[in-house]
Amino acid sequence: MATRTQESAYQVQDIIAEDIDAYLLQHQHKSLLRFITCGSVDDGKSTLIGRLLYDSKMIFEDQLAALESDSKKVGTQGGEIDFALLVDGLAAEREQGITIDVAYRYFSTEKRKFIVADTPGHEQYTRNMITGASTADLAVILVDARKGILTQTKRHSYLAHLIGIRHLVLAVNKMDLIGYDQATYDRIVADYAAFAESIGIAAFTPMPISGFKGDNITTSSAQTPWYDGPTLIDHLDTVTLDVSEDQAGAFRMPVQWVNRPNLDFRGFSGLVASGSIAPGDAVRVLPGGRTSTIARVVAFGGDLPRAVAGQSVTVTLADEIDCSRGDVIVAAESPPEAADQFEATIVWMADDAMLPGRPYWLKLATQTVTATVQQPKYQINVNTMERLAAKTLELNAIGVGNLSTDRPLVFEPYADNRQLGGFILVDKITNATVAAGMLHFSLRRAQNVHWQATDIGREAHASLKNQKAAVLWFTGLSGAGKSTIANRVEMKLARMNRHTFLLDGDNVRHGLNRDLGFTDADRVENIRRVGEVAKLMTDAGLIVITAFISPFRAEREMVRQMMAPGEFIEVHIDTPLAEAERRDVKGLYAKARAGKLANFTGIDSPYEAPANPEIRIDTTGMTPDEAADAIVAMLIP
Ligand code: ADX
Repeated sequence: MATRTQESAYQVQDIIAEDIDAYLLQHQHKSLLRFITCGSVDDGKSTLIGRLLYDSKMIFEDQLAALESDSKKVGTQGGEIDFALLVDGLAAEREQGITIDVAYRYFSTEKRKFIVADTPGHEQYTRNMITGASTADLAVILVDARKGILTQTKRHSYLAHLIGIRHLVLAVNKMDLIGYDQATYDRIVADYAAFAESIGIAAFTPMPISGFKGDNITTSSAQTPWYDGPTLIDHLDTVTLDVSEDQAGAFRMPVQWVNRPNLDFRGFSGLVASGSIAPGDAVRVLPGGRTSTIARVVAFGGDLPRAVAGQSVTVTLADEIDCSRGDVIVAAESPPEAADQFEATIVWMADDAMLPGRPYWLKLATQTVTATVQQPKYQINVNTMERLAAKTLELNAIGVGNLSTDRPLVFEPYADNRQLGGFILVDKITNATVAAGMLHFSLRRAQNVHWQATDIGREAHASLKNQKAAVLWFTGLSGAGKSTIANRVEMKLARMNRHTFLLDGDNVRHGLNRDLGFTDADRVENIRRVGEVAKLMTDAGLIVITAFISPFRAEREMVRQMMAPGEFIEVHIDTPLAEAERRDVKGLYAKARAGKLANFTGIDSPYEAPANPEIRIDTTGMTPDEAADAIVAMLIP
């Protein structure tokens, strides 16, 4: 049963959610500032947000009455309203005493409207904080005046700075509890200044406040005559918006979609990420590089003389040139770079650790490409800012490493442009977002290594051998019969004068992949290398047969994508685990069961069976010879 307090808080949340649209419309003419509040419940974060909502009249009279009576029941000091009750309304929060998800709340003043993301403080919620901070212009770092700068204060400041928040407010809260003591306040500000400088924060705005009493929130407090800075609301009302800074940059607009309502109109729609655009401006469409001139700039209400960063528009071009979703329209004279290898900071947000070498979707602005991340160069301890060695990144870990993409990405360093430098990584199979990242720069080696065109191409190689190149990719459990059947297939093909090569797991692991073991990460790298070798061999015109467990769908899919269409033939040697274990040709299952062999596929390491293999062989129903005949018949009908 929900308590009265929970109910009223829920009501406020519902009303706020329902009214967002109406609210944003009503305050359309006002500029929008997005900010986050960092700190824990103890620092008075919920109280401060409750106060802001209350002072801006986002709470309606009847909820207020409920809140007042709840506060009396809970018994706050002096019967004052406990604003935290309003904000900490979620049941889970009430039970655990912590704020879990990112909650967005809305309020406005005469001058501006605000969206505040209330992000949780604990270290295990780093990913939530990154999510809430990714669009914020400003961060309010709350400090309890009695405690001063804590590890958590440093962590939040580091993350806010990392995510590119340009305006930081150091709100020294609970001043009422230290008798508004100026010396204590000055010491906290000095401590923070020293820390801020050490991590590269250029400037911040300190202020002494009390969320509970309302000091320096909307009106200057009589209790702090020694403080002559702005109140929190004054500062929020007047701080320079990021979007106005973005408007100063060169024009960039990632194309979201091509708007073609009829044959006479072909427009490109998107959000202007930086700079401004007007009819007559010379533009370039990247990554292709073709140039044209802007004919019209159209917004919801009609044609515009000019559009600026932060506006969603549709532009038309004077020339009929190729341009589609994912392209970026930019100022012709100052285009950004396009590259396929980068250094980046990555914040890992998935429960499963990062797998270096695994292909993930990388989404940056409206571009989607396939990316693989290398082993991190280092990981950052978010409490001490130390650099630590790391082989992978676990949930909430932040690291720096290189990544490469399958196609060039149009980008800018994150420090210059958050929209063209920030990205997410998405798992290709589950579609879950697994990481957020920030591009630092492209790697020189990407620019200076070009693909060398050769005169004898892959078709020539294959036709000299009178065949079509292909990869027969066998997958299945250890002991399923992959090597045995693959061997027979190769013999049969040889008798038909076909040129083949068999790559076998056990053999390759004696040479090329001698350095790899059986962790998930090593298996990913094993398959990546074998995929590359198989690719070279198909370029040489061979029919390649591979026999690897290749337990993960993602890597089999990656190899499929590397090959020409139709060249990759996935062969699932489908032997049930019980049967493979019963045969136990190499005695490895017995060892694994006895605990003498770790990470054994099917026992304590997963096998992801193919969903739609080109060929599936049920080895319980046929001999290896029959299986080989079936496979050859598929390949050469
Ligand atoms: S894969 O998972 O990376 O594709 P691969 O096919 O190269 O594996 O190697 C599998 C072979 O290595 C098995 O057939 C078996 O002989 C041997 N092996 C040794 N340890 C393991 C293990 N822990 N798990 C699976 N196979 C192992």
